[in-house]
Amino acid sequence: MTKRLLQDQKERFESLKTPFYYYDTDLLAETLSAIKSETDKHEGWHLHYAVKACANPKVLRQIQQAGFGADCVSGGEIRTCLENGFPADEIVFAGVGKADWEIELALEAGIQYFNVESIPELEVIAEIASRMNKIANVSFRINPDVGAHTHSHITTGLAENKFGIAKEDMLHVIQVAKSLPSVRFVGLHFHIGSQILQMDDFEALCYRINELQDQLEAAGITEVHNINVGGGLGINYDNPDEAPIPDFKSYFETYAKHLKLRPGQRLHFELGRAVVGQCGSLITRCLYIKQAKEKQFVIVDAGMTELMRPALYGAKHHIQNLSVGQQTTDNGQETLFKYDIVGPICESSDTFARDFTLPETRRGDLLAIRSAGAYGETMASQYNCRELPKAYTTADM
Ligand code: LLP
Repeated sequence: MTKRLLQDQKERFESLKTPFYYYDTDLLAETLSAIKSETDKHEGWHLHYAVKACANPKVLRQIQQAGFGADCVSGGEIRTCLENGFPADEIVFAGVGKADWEIELALEAGIQYFNVESIPELEVIAEIASRMNKIANVSFRINPDVGAHTHSHITTGLAENKFGIAKEDMLHVIQVAKSLPSVRFVGLHFHIGSQILQMDDFEALCYRINELQDQLEAAGITEVHNINVGGGLGINYDNPDEAPIPDFKSYFETYAKHLKLRPGQRLHFELGRAVVGQCGSLITRCLYIKQAKEKQFVIVDAGMTELMRPALYGAKHHIQNLSVGQQTTDNGQETLFKYDIVGPICESSDTFARDFTLPETRRGDLLAIRSAGAYGETMASQYNCRELPKAYTTADM
């Protein structure tokens, strides 16, 4: 469906300066309602969208208007969310290194709760809250020591990762919080990693949370109002048109089936990639075809500055030539060529794909680098003094 739409937009794309991000907001609307129809089945389930995935104002507004809250990891994200209509009490704030000004900003705005990652951080929050005459709601991010089948750079729930508080220290940190008058303990937070496609990883997290909840119950701790299981659901990068909407059903059913919530407990999710990933494409133009000794290169005008994922994680994104339809030989066979698709940045890692099959591509062709809605625009840089990419949505077409 998106493929047809993308090609339909070609005329309009032609008139825009490349490279740019394009967000299909119809697909976003469908994705949001697919999530809602799963979470609405359950009392007390709520999604805080992980803003780090895509903070484009139009995208954020649409997500907010669909009834989602926000998961922020910086003062800048909190500000952006407030500016784009998220009520402060729908915002949660995570991150291992919250600066004092960010804590002040969050307390001033009146966010829902902090996801706290260490005792030193808890003490600073308590001190700032007390100085500001406020009570800070705190939830503890517990490192569940659960592995996930994903890229090692994006696992977060192992004991060796910098994130969260060791599960063995959970009772202690809660006792410390309860002894501090300017903080209120409200729940637990977890996140095992990103781009996870195996539901048994989430199932393992459920079992770990059940175990921890049993420990809390045995210790007489009853104020665990929220269980926040983070995000992590992956998307199909190889074939975005086959799976434009991620498998939310399996994801949410895993929690419904395996997580034992206590009466009245609220369950919070923090999905990012699965919400916006398939809605975005990076539209770029072929500058040159370069025939080298062993390879043929398609040199495009987007680089790792606009989409860093391939350079940083070796991530693979599907690439589509929007300017040419299917090309066939006289005997009806499709003519395809193998190219390395590279950007203009002075780094060898500025490569979007190696030995990638495309129809014959020429200077001036428009290419779409697909599934770039998450961790694309937000991770762009100005290396080589490049401009940050512009972005358009369906409404701009
Ligand atoms: N909650 C927490 C605490 C997180 O750290 C993250 C992502 C999320 C939620 C959202 O995870 P998601 O649903 O998007 O998987 N730049 C990398 C991904 C980094 C993810 C960081 N944390 C990439 O491009 O693959």
